[in-house]
Amino acid sequence: FKLACGLTDILVRLITYSVLESNFHTYDGLDVLGIEFNFQEMPMGGSALDLVGVPLPDETLAAAKNSDAVLLGAIGGYKWDNNAKHLKPETGLLQIREGLKVFANLRPATVLPQLVEASTLKREVAEGVDVMVVRELTGGIYFGKPRGFRTDENGEEVGFNTEVYAAYEIDRIARVAFETARKRQGRLCSVDKANVLEASMLWRRRVTAIAEEYPDVELSHMYVDNAAMQLVRNPKQFDTIVTNNIFGDILSDEASMITGSIGMLPSASLGSSGPGLFEPIHGSAPDIAGQDKANPLATILSAAMLLKYGLEEEDAARRIENAVLDTLNKGLRTGDIYSTGTKLVGCKEMGEAVLRSVDSQVHAA
Ligand code: IPM
Ligand code: MN
Repeated sequence: FKLACGLTDILVRLITYSVLESNFHTYDGLDVLGIEFNFQEMPMGGSALDLVGVPLPDETLAAAKNSDAVLLGAIGGYKWDNNAKHLKPETGLLQIREGLKVFANLRPATVLPQLVEASTLKREVAEGVDVMVVRELTGGIYFGKPRGFRTDENGEEVGFNTEVYAAYEIDRIARVAFETARKRQGRLCSVDKANVLEASMLWRRRVTAIAEEYPDVELSHMYVDNAAMQLVRNPKQFDTIVTNNIFGDILSDEASMITGSIGMLPSASLGSSGPGLFEPIHGSAPDIAGQDKANPLATILSAAMLLKYGLEEEDAARRIENAVLDTLNKGLRTGDIYSTGTKLVGCKEMGEAVLRSVDSQVHAA
């Protein structure tokens, strides 16, 4: 918090895919749920590529660092899919995660009673699932060196990456995971591939060592292939999962499907200091862009996580979460979570309904 001016600075980047033509605005002194905000929109990803030719302009990273929290829209689109790697929207995302040093990515996957029918799993398997995936976000094979392309001795083209973790990187994500598990059911499952990969052998050793600081948390280990299976066999066995960057990427998509739709799931990315980064775990869904079909709830719930984890405004966060539940209780559904007997609505109508519900709670309070 910038207590000196009494305002909270939030950097907002809208969903890049849909704002290519729009300008980026600054809104000062907004009253949101009784909290005073400065919002600044900055381009990143496709919009930044179109505007200035790079996926993460220096100005955007500087503004992000200078904020109390960053809300990020989904990135990517066909238009840039064939760009060179350094000119892909995804590269901008990796750069902002690295730039803000947000190594801990919290990805909750909760099956809401309202959406059990939208899950691909049977009711008795899906009902009551509440898993938190703690994904390491700034290390591993996503960032490891050496990486690149080369030609081998037979003239064959080779692509290569390196899965690498230093002990300190494992220790700090393990601590976040133990702290997280402690506030939940107190059970932590560390997922790795320690039967094959050295980076995973170190991972398992360090997580086991850190566990001594958390005697109240029950630690288990699981190989990632088994974890992928267990998640669809009996997801309720999991409370908190901690895993590396790439396994966390994959398992969180898998976990999201149990909840009905990836369009529901928010995430928080936190470092040891500085602003957190809050974004839906889904992509930009370019196949339905501009059709008013996308589910806005993951982004709305990311704003709730921003309030909770980024600004410690738990009451305001709860209001947004309640508004989402209230809207679902009224039967409103976007296409991705639609089931018989519910009301199919577009992105805009869903967003407006949540907003109305937030407002009515404020007035009731
Ligand atoms: C995610 C996404 C990103 C990732 C991509 C877009 C770089 O899939 O946030 O899960 O792999 O981390
Ligand atoms: Mn992903």
